[in-house]
Amino acid sequence: MREPDAEHVAFIARLVYDRTGIVLRPEKTEMVKGRLARRLRAHGLTSLAEYRQLIEAEPAGVELGHMLNALTTNLTAFFREPHHFEHLAKVALPEIVAKNAAGGSNRLRIWSAGCSSGQEPYSIAMTVAASVPNLARWDARILATDLDTEMIARASAGRYDEGQCESIPPAHRGRYAVQRGCAVMDQGLRDLIVFNQLNLMDPWPMRGPFDAVFCRNVVIYFDKPTQAKLFDRIADMLAPGGWLYIGHSEALFNVTSRFEPAGKTTYRRAR
Ligand SMILES: C[S@@+](CC[C@H](N)C(=O)[O-])C[C@H]1O[C@@H](n2cnc3c(N)ncnc32)[C@H](O)[C@@H]1O
Repeated sequence: MREPDAEHVAFIARLVYDRTGIVLRPEKTEMVKGRLARRLRAHGLTSLAEYRQLIEAEPAGVELGHMLNALTTNLTAFFREPHHFEHLAKVALPEIVAKNAAGGSNRLRIWSAGCSSGQEPYSIAMTVAASVPNLARWDARILATDLDTEMIARASAGRYDEGQCESIPPAHRGRYAVQRGCAVMDQGLRDLIVFNQLNLMDPWPMRGPFDAVFCRNVVIYFDKPTQAKLFDRIADMLAPGGWLYIGHSEALFNVTSRFEPAGKTTYRRAR
């Protein structure tokens, strides 16, 4: 039997795909309905059909943003996939610092693309702060972007439950202060990071080049042609030989030839 809301979910899935690249397959119908329940309540609506009408009446409106926020999957953690931070500290940063300094530049740029609630860029910032000698002499910036405006607001606030900080290695514990059960990221880290809302499907305002890009657990929701286009654009944004870190269940094989493998879910721009 056809699920009564199937056509409305299909309409929403199409819109989400067109705007964000996120594929919501029919088997995600219950998840979509569950995640949108709060949006329906916010408007006093009782059916997905009414919610669809609301969106259709204003396809570029404020509610679309709320809808996209509700449908993104934001799971993240400090030092998630810790081998990337070890690689950044021990291999990538020493090489970037030496290369840029040799070229007469004190610029260091890292992008966390799809940063969710900020644990990834703060983990990058802790790693940079701990492993770049004389950091104050560097023009170092971490750009942290996400589609989801609520996540960007949380990331900029830089406040986390103490429990969320358990995955921060003891060596970095001094980079946040615990105030009334809440871990507050220190100003030195915040000063390294610029948070901005950015839909990866839209034109990008930054010029680059970046020395490294973290785009982890983001393309998992995209189809292969969307992944190919995105990684091509990321390659264009990276310095030659720049580093790319992707998520544990992602791979570039059969997606793009712009990168060469350089370790576990770690790549470098090849061309
Ligand atoms: C599962 S989280 C991953 C967070 C972090 N990178 C990590 O690995 O822990 C995926 C993030 O990608 C974001 N995202 C999904 N589609 C996007 C798009 N088209 N543009 C920008 N961000 C997007 C979501 O909002 C979400 O916060």
